[in-house]
Amino acid sequence: GRLLSFDADPAVEAEPHAVMFLEDGIVVVKDGVIVEIGEGPALARRLPPGVPLVDHRPHLVMAGFIDPHLHMPQTQVIASYGTELMAWLSKYTFPEELRYGDSGVAEEASRFLFDTLAANGTTTAAVYCTSHQISAEAFFHEADRRGLRMIAGKVMMDRGAPQGLLDTAESGYEQTKELAAAWHGRGRLEVAITPRFAPTSSEAQLEATGALAAEFPGLPIQTHLSENHGEIAFVADAFPWSKDYTDVYEHYGLVRPRALFGHCIHLSDRERTALASKGASAIFCPTSNLFLGSGLYDLAASRRLGLTTGIATDIGGGTSYSMLTTAAEGYKVLALKGQKWPAFEAFHMMTAGNAAAVGIADKVGRLAVGLEADLVVLDSRASEPMRRRMARVETLAEELFALMVLGDDRATVATYAMGRKIYDRYHAGHATLAP
Ligand code: GUN
Ligand code: FE
Repeated sequence: GRLLSFDADPAVEAEPHAVMFLEDGIVVVKDGVIVEIGEGPALARRLPPGVPLVDHRPHLVMAGFIDPHLHMPQTQVIASYGTELMAWLSKYTFPEELRYGDSGVAEEASRFLFDTLAANGTTTAAVYCTSHQISAEAFFHEADRRGLRMIAGKVMMDRGAPQGLLDTAESGYEQTKELAAAWHGRGRLEVAITPRFAPTSSEAQLEATGALAAEFPGLPIQTHLSENHGEIAFVADAFPWSKDYTDVYEHYGLVRPRALFGHCIHLSDRERTALASKGASAIFCPTSNLFLGSGLYDLAASRRLGLTTGIATDIGGGTSYSMLTTAAEGYKVLALKGQKWPAFEAFHMMTAGNAAAVGIADKVGRLAVGLEADLVVLDSRASEPMRRRMARVETLAEELFALMVLGDDRATVATYAMGRKIYDRYHAGHATLAP
């Protein structure tokens, strides 16, 4: 197919969004890993006889999308009417998450989630389960069965929610440790330390979380930061000693490489600089930020201060599983901020950029020899409006931009994990090609 990879060489800092494009290329996969990339006709002649070749011309082939922030137990919270963050949590989200103490509920939702991510070309995600240990176990079981690269954690929260969702400083610590022992490094799975956010953790719990982080310096951390004004006021009140919201997480040692801070909308420059200097990442969740009326992410400010930004769906505050739709909404958020966001940069962020933000750029996110063959095949003419627009498109940049603005799951032709097809548009409906 038409091979595309963004940030072709991450070592080349001067060209952070370099693009590798082969109009007619082949990706050779062995044991799930990319072993060669080259011009189609020449490479095809050199392949040993008997190697199966899948022809995806005229479609685009790129690294599978990475979604660095979403909530497994919120697939039935999406599109809940009429609230901002704090009321949305108490009115819709916490009651729904209470159901996930039942392993059957968590298993069914995990299956749905993996099917839907694959249908949208997303091959890796960083995922919040609920505070129930069993919800994370169900998630990891299913991800492992499917051979996916996934990051997830049991949510830690010991206050500010219904009793059935609360753990304790001690049980959150112990259960996360047990999860890490059972699942971290198994297959392609990683366990994330997952305090929901400062409003739902006591100081004792944040302290225990910091102790976990110190004991396991390689683990990802995920939480929410500075999404909503009501939330920020709550944190200022609950942690009166803090300089600002980010300072709370800094104080407990949670700001470090592989720490993913969802939203980061209303940060001061001090906070951006603190996150950047400690190697943490901000995760931009445009559909969620628009839907909950949270605010507009400032990408230019993050860049100016060296803060790495990833982009994510934030299902179910977010409203689409599609990274294309998510990026299109991201473009519109930035348009309201007066900021430009070319398609090459958007696709870079959805793939190599998110991989770097999450700390897995040596595993996935680009078409490059040695990386895992997690791929998506995209059709930029997947609907009549797209075909009509493409008739006027002249450059690759224009094509990608229209694909991102008009595309969604209909544009996914096929999705591969470790070179194995996990979604096929022509067989959708029985697309769960798990072993
Ligand atoms: N802040 C704390 N929990 C959540 C959540 O579930 N969704 C969003 N969007 N923000 C949060
Ligand atoms: Fe979230």
